Amino acid sequence: MQSIAVVNQKGGVGKTTVTLGIAEAASASGMSVLIIDLDPQANASSGLGVWNATPSIDDVLAEARAGSATEAICRSHWPDDGPRPDLVPGSHLLAGREALLAADPVGAQDRLRLSMAGVNHDLVLIDCPPSLGLLCINGLFAAERALIVTEPAAWAADGVDLMHNTVERVAGRLGAPRLAGVIINRVGRTRDNRYWCEQLQDRFGELVLPQIQLRAAIAEASGQSTCLRSLGKRPGAAEAAGQFDELWNSLNEAQTADLGSGGLPPSAEHSAPDTIDL
Ligand SMILES: Nc1ncnc2c1ncn2[C@@H]1O[C@H](COP(=O)(O)OP(=O)(O)OP(=O)(O)O)[C@@H](O)[C@H]1O
Ligand SMILES: [Mg+2]
Repeated sequence: MQSIAVVNQKGGVGKTTVTLGIAEAASASGMSVLIIDLDPQANASSGLGVWNATPSIDDVLAEARAGSATEAICRSHWPDDGPRPDLVPGSHLLAGREALLAADPVGAQDRLRLSMAGVNHDLVLIDCPPSLGLLCINGLFAAERALIVTEPAAWAADGVDLMHNTVERVAGRLGAPRLAGVIINRVGRTRDNRYWCEQLQDRFGELVLPQIQLRAAIAEASGQSTCLRSLGKRPGAAEAAGQFDELWNSLNEAQTADLGSGGLPPSAEHSAPDTIDL
């Protein structure tokens, strides 16, 4: 099983969108995929067509019990004939869970990790909330790798640095997660976007993964609680799905290479496609 926490303490950069896009790509390649919605906003669950499901991740985190996440797994409501990841559904109640977790002197940070005992999907993606609080820390403690999502915008690199430090602090104690890389999402064709992409590339070099462009089809797919492949001939949908496939291939190859050599993800200089649909 591979497990990846999708993180950034900055809000609205595309963590949930990238989680859903990678889940689609990996499912379409034949892997069994589980998304754990660790954000009280529960956007990943909505994107998968699941609302107010019980038991939810809040029930899972309510007790320190090995394997409790397996009892909360449900099927996404994406169309039957396409990729369909499984889900541990999110809940708005999670907003109050963080304070309760903080009162647990022993298991505050690794309750999610404990709950995942017995999960046997090929890939587990943990969609983390936009904070460095205990929920996000639980996501990092539960994952083998952490993926930082960012945007080509001012201060983005500082935000990535902060998250990178947090990942390294957790890894220093636990031996995991490794940083899988930095994804620049919502890349448009403006000079400003190009400038910030270059800044991020200069700062993070080989850690920068295949980027995801700003495309209306991507927002439409999650808004309609479906996957890109089910948007049919919607302009931009196939291209967006192709970018997520490329991103997933790169992550999967890096994992395979890593298992062999213990090294970092391979260098990834990725050019933007010529066209964009907005
Ligand atoms: N590549 C993209 N192209 C077009 N729209 C996008 C793209 N990525 C994200 N969006 C849109 O941007 C908004 C924020 O994305 P998303 O919810 O994935 O961010 P987030 O980091 O998970 O936010 P939060 O921190 O609140 O959890 C959403 O409306 C989403 O549809
Ligand atoms: Mg989100």
